[in-house]
Amino acid sequence: MAKKTKTPKIKSHHRQLFVCMDGDCASSSKAKATRKALKRGLQAARKEEGIDHALCTGMECIGVCKGGPLVVVWPDGVWYHHVDEDVAERIVEEHIIGGEPVEDYIFYRIEGAQYLPEVDEDENA
Ligand code: FES
Repeated sequence: MAKKTKTPKIKSHHRQLFVCMDGDCASSSKAKATRKALKRGLQAARKEEGIDHALCTGMECIGVCKGGPLVVVWPDGVWYHHVDEDVAERIVEEHIIGGEPVEDYIFYRIEGAQYLPEVDEDENA
């Protein structure tokens, strides 16, 4: 007989930002500052813009190990390098809120990934 398990739950979201926190591609303190800036920006976007569609998660390593802090935006398939606090703010403003990736800091894109359209909450009401 299968063991009864509790199904995990996750907040509704449309994008997830992954930040490398391991410390080889950038110092841990820089990675922490980047993650904090992203979270702060996403929180402000929720409060001020009503945008509630991106999660930010720290990861041990995303397999590149150079040019950090590194950030990946999913499912857009966009990889950013050297994301300091200023670049993190731009990613939130331009990419997450505005829908336009920050070209200056992209070092890889997954071909075929498509940017999701902005969600119009009124349309779904
Ligand atoms: S340590 Fe950052 S990608 Fe590996």
